[in-house]
Amino acid sequence: MRIAVGADHGGHPLNERVIEELRAAGHEITDFGTHDGSQPDDYPDYALKVGQDVQSGAVEIGILICGSGVGAAVAANKLKGVRAALCGDTYSAHQSREHDDCNVLCLGARVIGVELAMEIARAFVAARFTGEERHRRRLMKVAEIEAARDSELG
Ligand code: RB5
Repeated sequence: MRIAVGADHGGHPLNERVIEELRAAGHEITDFGTHDGSQPDDYPDYALKVGQDVQSGAVEIGILICGSGVGAAVAANKLKGVRAALCGDTYSAHQSREHDDCNVLCLGARVIGVELAMEIARAFVAARFTGEERHRRRLMKVAEIEAARDSELG
């Protein structure tokens, strides 16, 4: 699977571990950094890069990591067609794909331990949207909210 990974200074070095493991598992990774957690930077910049790769179809899913995961999720969810899930447990990780067709996973490197973060990432990557009618119906409603927002901004 093609996966974009981005992290601000608060998400480093968890991003390196995620990338290492996903590459070892055979996934094709676009690595947007950061590779230097000592330099303060801004999570929206990474959310934009990862989100745009998801929007364009360059990758199938993205993983964003910041200190809490919250800022990354807020920023990524501003992008049309991006459904970013902040997950701190494996149930939410796979259900966010199976039911909500989420295409970006957000992790809080200062909130959860490395091994739990890796289990969450594995669960998210392995899960697939079930495509059931009730989930499609709900996603259509989400898309309608997004379209109404865009026309307001218009
Ligand atoms: C950076 O200090 C921190 O604010 C950021 O990584 C993230 O946690 C924001 O939600």
